[in-house]
Amino acid sequence: MQGVIDGVTYEIPTHVAVIMDGNGRWAKKHLMPRVMGHRQGGKALEQACEDIWHLGVKYFTVYAFSTENWKRSEEEVSGIMDILRKYLATAAERCNRENMRMRVIGDRHILAEDIQSEIHRVEEATKQNTGLQFTVAINYGGRDEIRRATAKIAKEVAEGKLDPNEINDQVIADHLDTWELPDPDLLIRTSGEERISNFLLWQLAYAEFYFTDVLWPDFKREHFIEAIRYYNKRERRFGGRK
Ligand code: FPP
Repeated sequence: MQGVIDGVTYEIPTHVAVIMDGNGRWAKKHLMPRVMGHRQGGKALEQACEDIWHLGVKYFTVYAFSTENWKRSEEEVSGIMDILRKYLATAAERCNRENMRMRVIGDRHILAEDIQSEIHRVEEATKQNTGLQFTVAINYGGRDEIRRATAKIAKEVAEGKLDPNEINDQVIADHLDTWELPDPDLLIRTSGEERISNFLLWQLAYAEFYFTDVLWPDFKREHFIEAIRYYNKRERRFGGRK
């Protein structure tokens, strides 16, 4: 869909996904402990939800904690979990004020019980909201998601509910955590790394990728506009020819 930003007409990506990288480096740069970088990253995320909605984006998905992030120090992992707890405590109220729906993807079953129930509460409290469709990936890994989807499909086949000859792309997509979401049109990764690090492996098949050196806590509205400008220079062919 087209939208006007600061007087200029752009094609606005429907779904933007972000790998919020660089919190640790931001903290180091400011001579602070790593967890302060994540705290600042959490603040940047709240502002980003507002900014991206006003730019005309309908779906926004962010990578907050990967299946590999457990390997970090216990201090850092518990610091991130505490930021998440605080965020969830006020999320329902904030989302409802802005008509925003929040979902969580990833395998939540190994998260602390209180975090699981808070996630459930926020998802339920915001499910009627028709504004920004905001999704947070927590204990998420693209391969793990595909593994879990495969197990669900295998179970349905074994129970005689699904014919193996009927398994197509749509059936697989319908068993992923993102079954309710369209595929991302644009992936942004901050802080200079150019990898997808196991994020949305299936869903990013045709997305445009935008990489920037800006560290996530410093990422602002103007940087989203820069990414949308870049997106508008791409010619999307989805494997076909124009
Ligand atoms: C990557 O930066 C960032 C993370 C692993 C955590 C992201 C978490 C948040 C933004 C806050 C919590 C989320 C919510 C939903 C409130 P890094 O630590 O890898 O940075 P570095 O590469 O500079 O070390």
